[in-house]
Amino acid sequence: MKLNLFATALLLFAAVACGDELSNPDDAPLRFDVVSSDPVEQGERLSAILGCVGCHTPDLTGEDWSDPELGVLWSANLTRSAADNSEAELAVMISEGRRPDRALLDMPSYLFSEIHPDDLTALVAYLKTLAPKGVRHPEPTIGPLLAERIASGDFKNSAERVAEMKDQAPPDLGPKHVFARAVLRATCAECHGMDLNGSTEQLIDAPPRPSLRIVGAYSIEEFSKLMKTGTGFGGRELNLMGGVSRWRYSRFTDNEITAVYEYLAELARQPP
Ligand code: HEC
Ligand code: HEC
Repeated sequence: MKLNLFATALLLFAAVACGDELSNPDDAPLRFDVVSSDPVEQGERLSAILGCVGCHTPDLTGEDWSDPELGVLWSANLTRSAADNSEAELAVMISEGRRPDRALLDMPSYLFSEIHPDDLTALVAYLKTLAPKGVRHPEPTIGPLLAERIASGDFKNSAERVAEMKDQAPPDLGPKHVFARAVLRATCAECHGMDLNGSTEQLIDAPPRPSLRIVGAYSIEEFSKLMKTGTGFGGRELNLMGGVSRWRYSRFTDNEITAVYEYLAELARQPP
C-alpha cells in the first residue's frame, strides 16, 4: 500500500478538529492482545496492524515518495535504522517523531504516542531482529510547495504533530470501550480521522473514507469478515480498505475485532 505521504499529513490536519482526551480511569489494559510470550512475535504482529509494513514496504526497506513540488522523501529503510540506532532511540522515533539529529517528516508518530510501553518495546525488539538490507535512503528536502505549507502553518513535522494530537482520541464511550478506543486511535484514526467521522479530503492513492458510524449497518459476522478478508457487507469488493484489512487487520485477534465492533456499533447509536 502506498498512501501518498504528504497528502496523508494534510488529511490528518483536517481530522484534528475533535476527539477527547484518552483517559483510562479503570486502569483497563490498553495493550493490544498479547498473542505470544515472545515480544518479537508480538512486535511483528503489531508492525502489520499499525501499518509499518504499508508505508515502509513489506520487507521494511522503505520506498521513494518524492514529489517535485513537495521535495525528496523516502519512507526510511527500517532494517538500516534498526542496525544503526539503540532501542531507546528507535522508541523515540516511533512514538515521538524525532531522531537524535532532527524531527521526522510525515512519519505518523502521533498515532503511536499513546500505545502501551510494552507494545512499543515489542515493536522495537522486532525491528532489532531484522537483518540490514539495502542502503540508507537520501535525507528529505523541502520543495517549494512544502516550504509554503510549513510557512503558513498548514504542515507540521512528526514531532509537532505528536504534541498537537497527544490529548486527542476517538470519542469516549465509557469504561467498557477503553480498549477498543485505544486500538482505534492507533490504527483506524490514520485514515478515518481522530473523530472517526471520515474524510473526503483528496489523498492521491486513497478514495474518500466514510464515517465509521457505517459499522452500525454491519452485523458482527459481516464486520469480522471485513477485517479478515477485506470484503464489505453484501459481498462488496472494497478499494483501499480491502487491502488494508487483508494486510493489517487480518492480524487482529477475535477479541480485538469484537471490541472494535462493539465500540463502533455503540458510536453509531449515539446522536451525531
Ligand atoms: C503513513 C506512513 C507511515 C507509517 C504508517 C509508518 N511510517 Fe515510519 N516513517 C514514514 C516516513 C515517511 C518516514 C521518513 C521520515 C523522515 O525521514 O523524515 C518514516 C520514518 C521512520 C523512522 C525513522 C528512521 C530513520 O532512521 O530515520 C522509524 C524508526 C519508523 N519510521 C518506524 C515506523 C514504525 C515502527 C511504524 C509502525 C509502528 C511506522 N514507522 C509506520 C512513514 C510511515
Ligand atoms: C490506510 C487507510 C485506512 C485505514 C488505516 C482504515 N481504513 Fe477503513 N476505509 C478506508 C477507505 C479508503 C475506505 C473507503 C472504501 C474503499 O475505498 O476501500 C474505507 C472504508 C471502511 C469501511 C466501510 C466499508 C463499506 O462497507 O463500504 C469500514 C467499515 C472501515 N473502513 C473500517 C475501518 C476500521 C474498523 C479500521 C481500523 C481497524 C479502518 N477502516 C482503517 C481506508 C482506511
